[in-house]
Amino acid sequence: MVNVTKTYLPDKERYKKYIDEIYANGWVTNNGALVQRLEKRLAEYLGVKNIVLVSNGTVALEIAYRTLGLKGFVVTTPFSFVATTSSLVTNDLLPIFADIDEKSFNLDPKSIENAITKNTSAILPVHVFGNSCEVERIASIAKKHELKVIYDAAHAFGVKYKGQSVLNYGDISTLSFHATKLFHTIEGGALIINDDALVQKARYLINFGIKNEEEIPELGTNAKMNEFEAAMGLCILDDMQLIEEKRKAIYERYARELKGLVVFQERNSEATYNYSYFPAVFQSEEQLKRVQKALNAEDVFPRRYFYPSLDTLNYIEPKQYMPKSRDISTRIFCLPIYPELADEIQTKIIGIIKKAL
Ligand SMILES: Cc1ncc(COP(=O)(O)O)c(C=O)c1O
Repeated sequence: MVNVTKTYLPDKERYKKYIDEIYANGWVTNNGALVQRLEKRLAEYLGVKNIVLVSNGTVALEIAYRTLGLKGFVVTTPFSFVATTSSLVTNDLLPIFADIDEKSFNLDPKSIENAITKNTSAILPVHVFGNSCEVERIASIAKKHELKVIYDAAHAFGVKYKGQSVLNYGDISTLSFHATKLFHTIEGGALIINDDALVQKARYLINFGIKNEEEIPELGTNAKMNEFEAAMGLCILDDMQLIEEKRKAIYERYARELKGLVVFQERNSEATYNYSYFPAVFQSEEQLKRVQKALNAEDVFPRRYFYPSLDTLNYIEPKQYMPKSRDISTRIFCLPIYPELADEIQTKIIGIIKKAL
């Protein structure tokens, strides 16, 4: 079976060396040595100032809202993974959708501005499939309306905008290190916090709000990453160059061979790309389903991602309708892309798509 992705597992012996270290010092969680080491190495690798590791990308979003003290309405995108929206709802924030640009699949800045009201406290854009948002336009909208900006950067590991990490834009960017992601820690995530003064608050929040044995200044939760997860991250970080090179080759081959047959995402020309996904847009849902059926018949499972558009979620009130997001979400899927994907399997996938079209 060929799925849209396959978890990258590093060399077992290298992982075992870290496990030996964990056994030797007996410390498995609560801001252990490996979590601290991974934070340092990631800050350097990504080119960011402050990074706080957490247990997954969904709680990273929740901690971001609480660190910034958001209230009321948050303008966000309906074209994302459900956690972008559901994390707002579970934190008593109301998602107000703006529509996407149908070429980049990211929030359209004009649409963001139209969705802002006096109750809006923040903008929550997503760098969809690792494609950088129009970060400068979003920054000026936020400044004009005095809003916070949180980027759901779950897909944007390693992406640079005008030569510096895209994660440095906005007040906070959040990452997901789930096993399906480009870089992973099995389960895990992170916050990139630009204001040094907020880092300590986030650290209290991920540890029950505790400051020390006597003081609990914040209403916190448990969002800590453990040492076994950090060990996985430390191993994978060593392999990032290889992982990206292999993905790039697969990505470029799809792009070459499917050109003119399906529509590709239009990438931000000021940004680098991390080759984390290969989204393909079809002419109609009917055409997409035909190709999907042909692939499934040969044991290949692309993922309808993102589908459905989040403005269709039954728990969102008031009801909202975002035509561009709904349209793209019915016609898009992501093709298998991961370092181990063999040439002959990719040849087969491309052949099936061409035939079905
Ligand atoms: C855009 C986006 N946001 C948030 C998440 C949630 O991350 P996690 O699965 O680590 O909780 C994911 C991935 O799963 C995602 O793709």
